Amino acid sequence: MTTTRKCAAVVVGAGPAGVAVVGNLLERQLGSIAWIDPSFESGRVNRKYREVPSNTKVSFFQSYATSLQPFRTIIENTPRPNAFTTMAKLDQENTCHLHYAADMIRGLTNGLVKMEQVYAYQGFVTAATLSSKPDQARWTVRIKQSSGNEANELEIETSRLILCTGSHPTNLPVPIPVLSETLPTTKPTTVAVVGASHSAILALLNLVTLAQSSHPHLRVKWFTRHKLRYAEFMDGWILRDNTGLKGLAADFARTQLEEGVLGSSDAGKIVTKVDCAGGEAREKEMYRAHLPDCDYITQAVGFTRDPLPQLVKGDDAEPLSMEFDHETGAFHESAPAGEKIPGLFGAGIAFPQRVVDPYGNVEYAVGFFKFMKFLKKVVPSW
Ligand SMILES: Cc1cc2nc3c(=O)[nH]c(=O)nc-3n(C[C@H](O)[C@H](O)[C@H](O)COP(=O)(O)OP(=O)(O)OC[C@H]3O[C@@H](n4cnc5c(N)ncnc54)[C@H](O)[C@@H]3O)c2cc1C
Ligand SMILES: NC(=O)c1ccc[n+]([C@@H]2O[C@H](COP(=O)([O-])OP(=O)(O)OC[C@H]3O[C@@H](n4cnc5c(N)ncnc54)[C@H](OP(=O)(O)O)[C@@H]3O)[C@@H](O)[C@H]2O)c1
Repeated sequence: MTTTRKCAAVVVGAGPAGVAVVGNLLERQLGSIAWIDPSFESGRVNRKYREVPSNTKVSFFQSYATSLQPFRTIIENTPRPNAFTTMAKLDQENTCHLHYAADMIRGLTNGLVKMEQVYAYQGFVTAATLSSKPDQARWTVRIKQSSGNEANELEIETSRLILCTGSHPTNLPVPIPVLSETLPTTKPTTVAVVGASHSAILALLNLVTLAQSSHPHLRVKWFTRHKLRYAEFMDGWILRDNTGLKGLAADFARTQLEEGVLGSSDAGKIVTKVDCAGGEAREKEMYRAHLPDCDYITQAVGFTRDPLPQLVKGDDAEPLSMEFDHETGAFHESAPAGEKIPGLFGAGIAFPQRVVDPYGNVEYAVGFFKFMKFLKKVVPSW
């Protein structure tokens, strides 16, 4: 059975971005908000990265949690000790394991879903249709609810649909198959690691730690196409704030993996660097030459947006082809039409703000507090 309701906004996803969007919308006091997520458990950071060390200081998680009045109210009303008091006790200038940040998001989520204006639906947004009336954003959002064993459908009409649907690790096709079972099991294990950003460096660090302890026969081939890049504190701003290595990953890279030290470092006894720079043809050539020695491959080559609900417009359900506007959080139809899509917005790792530093470098701002800063700027115009 399908029930239809009306809300001022529909927010899809309850990761750090979805939580920040709901908080910002509540502060605007627009009316009721429908919020949909399969689990309301802090998104991917809780599902996959609880043991990963953060690359941002604890103080940024604190700033996120205290940025909005609805969040401050939740913190005040949560029985102590709780995730917020635990985080407040950590060294604010240091990094922390991401479980502290995930639990803080969970604490905020628990408070938000109890608020009068918030209607939380455990389930999945499968589709949304934009009505064809000009100048009137009216979305009909279809939700597949998961309650117990029964799945039932719900429709919500709204003038604002906000996608905070997250991303997953990118998977690249490799030119040759790398299957551990095709290789002899008697020889020592070699793992290929592809990439040179945060995920890749943390993978190298973990594999080196394993090789130094429980897996002495483990060896690593590190496929990289650029020099290690670090975030650098400049005069009042951070160079490579979004793409440069920080925290534990930066320390490990500087002391163990850099050109001049890899040959003599402890990590260098385990890791062999395969320089893939020089374009696609050379990259493939290096894979062909070196991947056959590898039993496993870890691709740490960035993130890809999770699939979006099916978005269509008009009575004939014409599919929307859309481009995200990284300055406003809104969407435009893809060229040649290029018109703004009314009432559709995005945030989070899938839809981040584009930032330009004083040197003209363009980056995408991905991080809890970065999402919050962007949303505080753009939500008043949504
Ligand atoms: C390994 C790693 C470490 C990171 N470390 C840090 C750090 O230290 N500090 C920092 O500030 N940032 C960090 N980030 C960056 C960023 O803050 C996180 O990626 C963050 O979790 C992104 O939040 P999100 O809400 O955009 O997406 P997600 O956490 O992926 O949440 C998306 C949610 O939407 C739900 N969803 C998707 N589709 C639908 C649908 N159709 N219907 C209903 N629900 C849906 C998903 O189930 C999920 O719950 C890290 C990122 C990674 C990958
Ligand atoms: N808490 C943490 O410490 C932590 C850990 C992991 C991730 N994160 C966050 O998560 C986000 C994503 O980080 P990420 O490290 O996963 O991805 P990323 O920052 O997008 O970096 C992807 C890396 O893969 C390389 N790459 C892409 N395609 C490649 C190919 N075909 N061959 C070889 N290398 C290739 C890129 O090199 P090019 O530049 O040459 O394309 C780049 O070095 C960031 O916001 C990051 O801060 C945080």
